[in-house]
Amino acid sequence: MSIAEKFVTMEYGPAPEDPKEAGAWLERHDRRFGLFIGGAWQPPASGEYFDTLDPSNGEKLAAVAQGSVADIDAAVHAARAASPKWRALTPHARARYLYALARLVQKHSRLLAVLETMDNGKPIRESRDIDIPLVARHFYYHAGWAQLLKQEFPEYEPCGVVGQIIPWNFPLLMLAWKIAPALATGNTVVLKPAEFTPLTALAFAELCQEAGLPEGVVNIVTGDGSTGEALVKHPDVDKIAFTGSTEVGRSIRSATAASHKRLSLELGGKSPFIIFEDADLDSAVEGLVDGIWFNQGQVCCAGSRLLMQESIAETLIAKIRDRMSSLRIGPPLDKAIDIGAIVARVQLDRIERMVAQGVAEGATCWQPQVVLPSRGFYYPPTLLSNVHPTSIVAQQEIFGPVLATMTFRTPKEAVELANNTVYGLASCVWSENINVALHVAAQLKAGVVWVNCTNLFDAACGFGGYRESGYGREGGREGLLEYMEPAWFKHAPTLPAANALAATQVEARPEASTPAIDRTVKLYIGGKQVRPDSGYSMEVRSPDGRLLGEAPLGNRKDIRNAVEAARKAEAWAKATAHNRAQVLYYCAENLAQRQGEIIHRLAAAVGEKQAAAEVELGTERIFSYAAWADKFDGAVHNPPFRNIAIAMNEAIGAVGVICPAEAPLLGFLSLVLPLLAAGNTVVAVPSERYPLITGDLYQLFDTSDLPGGAVNIVTGYASQLLKTLAEHDELDGIWCYGDEATVAAAKAMSTGNLKQVWTNEGRVIDWFNPKVAEGRWFLEHATQVKNIWVPYGE
Ligand code: NAI
Repeated sequence: MSIAEKFVTMEYGPAPEDPKEAGAWLERHDRRFGLFIGGAWQPPASGEYFDTLDPSNGEKLAAVAQGSVADIDAAVHAARAASPKWRALTPHARARYLYALARLVQKHSRLLAVLETMDNGKPIRESRDIDIPLVARHFYYHAGWAQLLKQEFPEYEPCGVVGQIIPWNFPLLMLAWKIAPALATGNTVVLKPAEFTPLTALAFAELCQEAGLPEGVVNIVTGDGSTGEALVKHPDVDKIAFTGSTEVGRSIRSATAASHKRLSLELGGKSPFIIFEDADLDSAVEGLVDGIWFNQGQVCCAGSRLLMQESIAETLIAKIRDRMSSLRIGPPLDKAIDIGAIVARVQLDRIERMVAQGVAEGATCWQPQVVLPSRGFYYPPTLLSNVHPTSIVAQQEIFGPVLATMTFRTPKEAVELANNTVYGLASCVWSENINVALHVAAQLKAGVVWVNCTNLFDAACGFGGYRESGYGREGGREGLLEYMEPAWFKHAPTLPAANALAATQVEARPEASTPAIDRTVKLYIGGKQVRPDSGYSMEVRSPDGRLLGEAPLGNRKDIRNAVEAARKAEAWAKATAHNRAQVLYYCAENLAQRQGEIIHRLAAAVGEKQAAAEVELGTERIFSYAAWADKFDGAVHNPPFRNIAIAMNEAIGAVGVICPAEAPLLGFLSLVLPLLAAGNTVVAVPSERYPLITGDLYQLFDTSDLPGGAVNIVTGYASQLLKTLAEHDELDGIWCYGDEATVAAAKAMSTGNLKQVWTNEGRVIDWFNPKVAEGRWFLEHATQVKNIWVPYGE
């Protein structure tokens, strides 16, 4: 074709990136890689290797070691051995290493980008311009945190040895998201890359050597799911950080429930992409191209559910089809390619299967006329319309270049549809009306909301999910907290078993047969005192066996009613921080006023001295959280784009609380108050040692204008009520403070819906010491960060 003809057709010619350097790198390693353990390369104990393929043509790139239980053990040992010296380094020395890694990533960026594209199938344009620059940015950013660590987190210690398991969609970027914060905070690492895409992690191991990183600080063990499982189950690992499918996340949660391993999970998503009728439609369509066709749609935060305002649906669909027709699909090393290859045959099969099922469920499938390369794994950009909100393609992650569309009429309906998912990772809102966009953004249950933009990431802006998209954040200040613990907590002694000491002192019996006693309380649900569904109560006795009163024996039904009341308590959830502060101050005032009588009653259970301390410190604790209520603010980040990212500390939602046994009043207030201050609503199970405190608490709340349902109290046996709390899908989180067996049960029982669980890990908390029993640490667990990205400029 002549140049003149080319000007007419404007056809792209091939513009392949040169793979020579990457090929030479593979050859230098004889296309065979061992494991990187203790700073050296070694063959796998089993002698087994597996092939990693180039998905753009199906050809073998290299053989990679299959790590086994023995290899994981060796790597964990190496990480443990390296830990004392690494954490003892000055923050500046650690910062220098991270800085060196950032520089090396930049220096070798072309090799890394090409390797990534060859191993994963993603367009070189993306690996070169997005993945690798973000990797470097992550190490720079965390070099900064390493430098500032002691100043900013003086009370914190690293977790220790961290096991990290990453997926194949952003291989090196996920490695950076995991390794950079872990190293910056003084942890040592064993990382397992995904079996489809191990090469850049192995190249990174070489960069660690080049940077002179001390041996054993970073260990890379390749292998499949069984290798990951061995890492999860290793007893000497202090924390697991995982990114991948919700299914595997669930199994990891279950495998770690009985241990004290910290866990952060970044799982799947089915993110809504909402377009209002007043949006700049052409920009929105460009956003959509990034939202769903970036990385072939194999993106956890892909905007895979398009929600269009009904009035523009037809116009928009026409524009989308038009744009889809000009997307270029082909060999990913071609610099002018938009859509590359799907990572592996199994993933391609999965996409095909799900689309077929969606069509069987009534969706209309449209694909542009494209010629797919004859070799390799490719799938055309796909539009599914007429999708019913309950269809598999509207509910489950497809992880492919497939967009499902639905319509809505009002902003309210858009929010309902958007939140109609078990996930909550990301979302997009397109509207030229910034008021509407931000109003909708605030209501979306997702860790990230992009307003009039899509798929923007930065190391300074935390990323992570709500609900079954996981918990914990990566990036930002909040991401660091996933890799550290307050020193006092880490070294706190373990509570004696069965700390719910009163369990032996209470018994269930019909209410009718209750003899005259000092005091009977009721349950407190939706702002009302109610009888228990069971009609039974339990006796509460003093340590010397005296009958102090009766408390209702709550059951499953009572918990369900309490959760419903908590969900409905919007007056609290939507109250301004100032209003919340006012109500909490009022609570403190009322507690102080009645302190004499409450001390008198509580003294029968815990002794005069403790009772006085609980009431006095309890008043102060409420005051303290009243003070925090309008001060635990978020942040505004300035990412390196023309955007601001508003990081909001949002309430988790409705939270169940198993209160500690040892301090019936102070323990209750220490957990419930930070949750309230942050705008959560609560279903609390008070200490079995003295559940009669409920009577004083509901009087306190009633007289302090706390809206009904903001706090609900169900007395009974924690071991029985916990199960209903843990399994309840409408409850967003659980705080469980008890002995080791109780907290392990809380984690195990809530595996099904991946509820956020925060516990004392069975450790002793000194509720009488305000330095450890109140403040930011509690508020950080009472909130989750939502980042709302808003562009500016013309
Ligand atoms: P996966 O969750 O099985 O793999 C992710 C990582 O976990 C890999 O390194 C894998 O070896 C490891 N792994 C697998 N089983 C494990 C176990 N029992 N214990 C510890 N580690 C284990 O994801 P897969 O099978 O590659 O993809 C399946 C689907 O998962 C995709 O179609 C997609 O829907 C979703 N997915 C979501 C990702 C996300 O970023 N949210 C990333 C990858 C997959």
